[in-house]
Amino acid sequence: MKIVLGADHGGFALKECIKKYLISKNTIETIDIGCFIEESVDYPDIALNAASKLKEINADYIFAFCGTGIGISIALNKIDKIYCANIYNVSSAKLAKEHNAVNAIAMGGRELDFDTAILMVNAFLEAEVLSDNHKRRRAKIGY
Ligand code: RB5
Repeated sequence: MKIVLGADHGGFALKECIKKYLISKNTIETIDIGCFIEESVDYPDIALNAASKLKEINADYIFAFCGTGIGISIALNKIDKIYCANIYNVSSAKLAKEHNAVNAIAMGGRELDFDTAILMVNAFLEAEVLSDNHKRRRAKIGY
């Protein structure tokens, strides 16, 4: 599985934590498109770069980070074929996969502690996409 990671300065520390965790699993290839230091950058630029990378290498998911997760999720959702959920707890992480079948999740580096974020990432990765009613609803918004 390939996961593209991207963060602005508000999400940098959480990105680093999640990257380290994913690498430790040994089954996931992480592709980090930055930022690489905690210097102010604009989350729309990070969103565009992450989406381009996902498409270029046919990656499975984008894990995106900003201060709240809000800005980068809005930016990602403006991009063709990117479906992003701003997840905020374990339940939203699981349901973002099961019901919404997103290919991107956003997390708030200033909102989440590292341990909770790792639980959320695991919940997302372990969940399965559900069909039936959820598939019909997703089709109504184009995917
Ligand atoms: C940057 O200060 C902050 O606005 C950004 O990380 C994010 O929270 C925006 O939604």
